[in-house]
Amino acid sequence: MTTPSNTATPADDHVAPAVSELDTIVSLSKRRGFVFPSSEIYGGINAVWDYGPLGVELKNNVKRAWWKAMVQERDDIVGLDAGILMHPQVWVASGHVGSFSDPLVECQTDHRRFRLDELAGAEDLTPAQLQDPDIVKKLGLKCPVDGGPLSAPRRFNLMFQTHMGPVEDEGSIIYLRPETAQGSYVNFRNVQQSSRKKIPFGIAQIGKSFRNEISPGNFVFRMREFEQMEMQYFVRPGGDAAAAAFEEWLPRRRAWYEHYGVMPGRLRTREHRPDELAHYAKKAVDVEYRFPFGWKELEGVHNRGDFDLSRHAEASGQNLDYFDPVTNESFIPWIVETAAGADRAAFTFLIDAYREEDVRGETRVSLALHPDLAPYKVAVLPLLKKRPEIVELCHRLLADLKQDLMAVYDDTAAIGKLYRRQDEIGTPWCVTVDVDSLEDLAVTIRDRDSMTQERVPVEGLKRAILDRMAAARA
Ligand code: GAP
Repeated sequence: MTTPSNTATPADDHVAPAVSELDTIVSLSKRRGFVFPSSEIYGGINAVWDYGPLGVELKNNVKRAWWKAMVQERDDIVGLDAGILMHPQVWVASGHVGSFSDPLVECQTDHRRFRLDELAGAEDLTPAQLQDPDIVKKLGLKCPVDGGPLSAPRRFNLMFQTHMGPVEDEGSIIYLRPETAQGSYVNFRNVQQSSRKKIPFGIAQIGKSFRNEISPGNFVFRMREFEQMEMQYFVRPGGDAAAAAFEEWLPRRRAWYEHYGVMPGRLRTREHRPDELAHYAKKAVDVEYRFPFGWKELEGVHNRGDFDLSRHAEASGQNLDYFDPVTNESFIPWIVETAAGADRAAFTFLIDAYREEDVRGETRVSLALHPDLAPYKVAVLPLLKKRPEIVELCHRLLADLKQDLMAVYDDTAAIGKLYRRQDEIGTPWCVTVDVDSLEDLAVTIRDRDSMTQERVPVEGLKRAILDRMAAARA
């Protein structure tokens, strides 16, 4: 396979993040209702976050945009929504029971636990070194919090376990899925036969996954409960078809982030070293983003070969071969997977859209979100809320707009402040109804990014907004 052209280079170290302090985004998210700490009134629960009124809109829009690109616009990909709980044998066959683990070390004094490969000085250890019982001593590693001695590393399985049914014994253990992918593999035959898709074709899924991460953090970047958007593309066996699919999907997935507004210079691709590859992967390339805390994985594209389908065929005793009617051959297809996170993507769009600028001596904060991703597409604002005819016209326009898009009304401040509030949550257009509107039956559309204003007839308002949305999409 060819190596991706844009791989990580030392020059990437000079790329500045869109926002230097993560706290800027965390506090905006809380203040404006994008993301709240989960169970906050009880002190919160580590690595679980709740999406507020604006956050749920943003994340739904991200998922809708992904589904549009990956299912709606494709003839060769169909959707699936498999259960979070699956037969426990799925996770034995997939290798997750045996191999889905991280190296854990524990501080002997405060009993805090850390991922060994995330400690300073241990980031570049090979898998063999990460299992070396003397590695902590050899590198002189100490607890980063209190400087206490650290234990030897041990493997820590990341899957959450629970019990199914009323009896809690060994036989009732099941797992919360750590990836959506396995649902697509165990349904491969059902989907292929019912949809009569011919290879190459894909199965796309969006859904919750759970990982008992040792060191979650960086806000919603690494959580214990999160949502994935994964697509499994089934191709003819052997390296050639998988290589062609890989070369097609990697740039396409990167371009998806750019299309929705992420600055190309803050994206790069990075191929995994052989010793970094997950147990199922023959090749993996990450699309990385320059987060405020460094270059990190945004999405992975993986060549999984026939690993998953072969293991499931063997463990279940079922025939998972695909019959090719053109060549009259039966075979286990290979799989190229695109594996993205809905939370991580939404987080990235939020960070990359953040703008601060000086406007007449005041700092204007805006989110330059793509209109398809923005929680509200339009806000309807009265210039004079004391005039009932103005307010009444606002509500009439709002009701009409709401038939087709997310729109909101606000009259709780002066117009300048109302604009700033909408800028800060990324609303692309504000519609202002003024005294003249009652005479000339026209309103003003104000653009979030350019701050320019245009007068349009009331009758044509919705069309004008929908046209602007279509133009942003083109
Ligand atoms: N099926 C392959 C797979 O799950 P992965 O690289 O482990 O691959 C895919 O995960 C994507 O899921 C990541 O690129 C990331 O966007 C998201 N993801 C993984 N773990 C996550 C976590 N703990 N919190 C938030 N998102 C996560």
